[in-house]
Amino acid sequence: MPKGGKPLSNPAATVLIPGWMHEHARHMLGTQFNLVETPDCDIHARLPQELRASIRGVACRTRIDSQFIDALPNLEIIASYGVGYDAVDAAYARSKNIIVTNTPDLLNEEVADLTVGLLVSVVREIPKAQAFVREGRWKTSDYPLSRNTLRNRRIGIYGLGRIGRCIARRIEAFGLPVAYYSRRPANEVAYDYFPSLLELAYAVDVLIAIVPGDASTAKTVNADVLSALGPEGVFINVGRGTVVDEDALVGALRTGTIAAAGLDVIADEPNVTDDMLALENLTILPHIGSASVATRTAMADLLARNLIAWFQSGAAITPVP
Ligand code: NAP
Ligand code: 8YV
Repeated sequence: MPKGGKPLSNPAATVLIPGWMHEHARHMLGTQFNLVETPDCDIHARLPQELRASIRGVACRTRIDSQFIDALPNLEIIASYGVGYDAVDAAYARSKNIIVTNTPDLLNEEVADLTVGLLVSVVREIPKAQAFVREGRWKTSDYPLSRNTLRNRRIGIYGLGRIGRCIARRIEAFGLPVAYYSRRPANEVAYDYFPSLLELAYAVDVLIAIVPGDASTAKTVNADVLSALGPEGVFINVGRGTVVDEDALVGALRTGTIAAAGLDVIADEPNVTDDMLALENLTILPHIGSASVATRTAMADLLARNLIAWFQSGAAITPVP
C-alpha cells in the first residue's frame, strides 16, 4: 500500500503487539491481522529483517522513538495504549506519514475517581492511619488529628481538559471552590481562570496537575510554584512526572514549604528515589489512574478498533491531534 493512501484490508496486515495485550483486544486483532508478539513491543529484540519489513501496525505503551520507527520501514500506524502519548515521537511519526492513535475519554471518570481518592488520602492521611491499625497501635492510643483538611480550602486544577473537568465536577460536589490554569480559558465553565500557573498557585490551597507531559509542561511545577502554594498547601500529580521539578518538590516537602503531596506519576517510573520514600508527607502510587480491569480493557479495545478501522477504511477512530 502506498503510504498515506487508502490501505488494503486484504491481504491481512502484520501487526506487532506486546505480550500483555488484553485477551479481548488480542482476539479482535487476531481475527483481522497476522500478529507478531514480543514482551513489550521490543523492536530491539532482534526481529529478523524480513519480519520487521512486514510489520504495518504497532500496538504499544512503551517508548516509540525515531530509531524504533526507522526499524519498521513499512509502518503505517502506531496505536498507543493511553490518552497521553508522550512516549511516542509523534512528530517523527508524522514526518514519515505514520498515523498515531491514543485512547481518550473512556478513562476520564476512572482517572478522576483516583485523583480525588488520592487527594483525600493525602489530606486525611488514610495510608498512615491504616498502618496505625495494622501495627496494633489503636489498642493503646488514638490516631493523631490530621493537620490538613479539605474544609474551607480552594482547589486549583492545572489543565482543565477532559479529565480535569471530571475532577472539577467531583470537587464541586465536595462543596469546594475550583479555579484553574490552562493556556486558554476553557469554554462553558464558571470556574475562576488564572492566566499563569504561579498566579493559580498563590490563589489556592490544593494544586492538582492533570496536563500532558511535553516540552511545554516540563518541570513547570517548580520551586516558585510550590512556594506560592504555601505551608498549608497540598500538591497532587496525576498528569506526568515530567511536569514536576522533583528535586524542588522533595525540598519543599522536607522543609515544610508545602504540607503534603500525592503522586500517581513520577518522572522515572518505576524508580522512586530514596529521597522520595523517606518523606512521610508524600504518598506515591504506581501509576494506577486508569488501572481497573474495566477501563484498561476498554482502552485496549479502542486501541484494537483503531488498528482495524485504519486497515479497513483508511481512517482511524481517535488519531492524536
Ligand atoms: P486533554 O483533554 O488534552 O487536557 C489537557 C489539558 O492540559 C487542557 O486543558 C490543556 O489546555 C492543558 N494544557 C496542555 N498543555 C498545557 C500547558 N503547557 N500549560 C497549561 N495547560 C496546558 O487531556 P486529558 O485527556 O485530560 O489527559 C491529560 C493528561 O493526563 C494526559 O496527557 C496524560 O499525561 C495524563 N493521564 C494520566 C493518567 C494516569 O493514570 N495517571 C491517566 C490518563 C491520563 P490548553 O491546551 O488550553 O493549555
Ligand atoms: C495508562 C495513562 O497508565 O492514559 C494515560 O495517559 O497514563 C494511563 O491511562 C498508560 O497509558 C498505560 O500504560
